[in-house]
Amino acid sequence: MSTSVIILAAGKGTRMRSSLPKVLQPLAGRPLLGHVIETAKKLHADNIITIYGHGGDLVQKEFAQEQVQWVEQAEQLGTGHAVKVTLPVLPKSGQSLILSGDVPCISQATLQKLLNAAQNTGIGLVTLTLPNASGYGRIVRENGKIQAIVEHKDANDAQRQIKEINTGIYCVSNAKLHEWLPKLSNNNAQGEYYLTDIVAMAIADGLEVESVEPERAFEVEGVNDRVQLAALEREFQADQAKLLMQHGVHLIDPSRFDLRGTLVAGTDVRIDINVIIEGRCEFGDNVEIGAGCVIKNTQIASGTKVQPYSIFDNAIVGENTQIGPFSRLRPGAKLANDVHIGNFVEVKNSSIGLGSKANHFTYLGDAEIGAGSNIGAGTITCNYDGANKFKTVIGNAAFIGSNSSLVAPVTIGNGATVGAGSTITSDVADHCLAVERSKQFVKENYQRPQKIKK
Ligand code: UD1
Ligand code: MG
Repeated sequence: MSTSVIILAAGKGTRMRSSLPKVLQPLAGRPLLGHVIETAKKLHADNIITIYGHGGDLVQKEFAQEQVQWVEQAEQLGTGHAVKVTLPVLPKSGQSLILSGDVPCISQATLQKLLNAAQNTGIGLVTLTLPNASGYGRIVRENGKIQAIVEHKDANDAQRQIKEINTGIYCVSNAKLHEWLPKLSNNNAQGEYYLTDIVAMAIADGLEVESVEPERAFEVEGVNDRVQLAALEREFQADQAKLLMQHGVHLIDPSRFDLRGTLVAGTDVRIDINVIIEGRCEFGDNVEIGAGCVIKNTQIASGTKVQPYSIFDNAIVGENTQIGPFSRLRPGAKLANDVHIGNFVEVKNSSIGLGSKANHFTYLGDAEIGAGSNIGAGTITCNYDGANKFKTVIGNAAFIGSNSSLVAPVTIGNGATVGAGSTITSDVADHCLAVERSKQFVKENYQRPQKIKK
């Protein structure tokens, strides 16, 4: 059967107190709506229809790359009205999963269960039993069978005792949506067109309404304010951390670990506390990440040890390298195996060959460094003239003395040596020593100026 996904995302999210539309607020580094679209894509739906309203331009721009059909709900007259505005583009046959843009953690597994359950009857919903159901639509059952959903504001005292709630996630036959939605009325406590009223319509048509429970309760949690957003972030992170640990990653404290993207990790990877991983990262076997590192879109090969507070952004790191503490690898940093990068060393758009070392206080930008070279403390590649960038090439087994400035474009040959404190503006040939500094001036018995005591 063909399946459409309809995502409700027109609400303003007043309680977020933000200029950003609610569905663009980030959870684990990705907009709430992005999580829902991602899950919809995993289901291989035939089309994904997103209902937008507030901040529509921003929302559409954010997802311009996605194959999403946008339908505007100019005025927010209720959840039933929201789905009704999709009818002109909704296929007449097949079924629709109706999701909420502010319920980001719904899983593929739960939705698959819902699709299976609703297949025969034409309507199903995800429900959950909560100790405190206040505020939610309640599931009214008779002899165990669903009869209606009653919104909290419309419910009588007895109905308010019901603990089973509507999560706002449904699967409904498209033919029935075309038949029922035009018949909704807004004659209720909130003066809104309630989508939930289709349940009573299904019963009136003699259909049975199926229900499934989510695999995990946090999947159906919605986000209305920043307190709920932060709480859901922790639950989402705890869930991701658990999956990584089940795959053999050693997280020293899963409650102090944040993954905002995807991590593919080998065996016996050890990650200390307060590490943030963003985008797509890959760590080989036995990689160790020290406390407080922030690592984005980076590959780190087996056996590499990263000491605390190192920052990576779009870097590629070889095997058995040593990095940090306090190193910064920026986009285009490419380290071969056995490289050492130490404290306060910044590497940008540079490749560093096998076994080369830059252990202290150095900037390497737009550089190509061979194997077995030593870059002394305080070395700077002067790659920028204020308008253009230039390249520094350093060969194999070169030795750059401390506090040297290498003014690019410049080439330091294989086995070449640069004396400490030199400002190198011309190429240094293989195996040569270049020293560029004035001869040391000496004055004997020199008397420094003295302070006169009053
Ligand atoms: C809805 C359900 C309630 C359920 C709860 C679960 C109805 C009438 N009630 O209530 O049974 O327990 O969700 O969280 O459906 N939206 C639009 N256009 C509108 C109105 C809403 O796009 O005109 C979107 C919102 O942005 C949001 C979603 O629909 O993503 C749910 O709307 P909301 O107003 O939060 O519904 P609730 O009152 O929470
Ligand atoms: Mg709500």
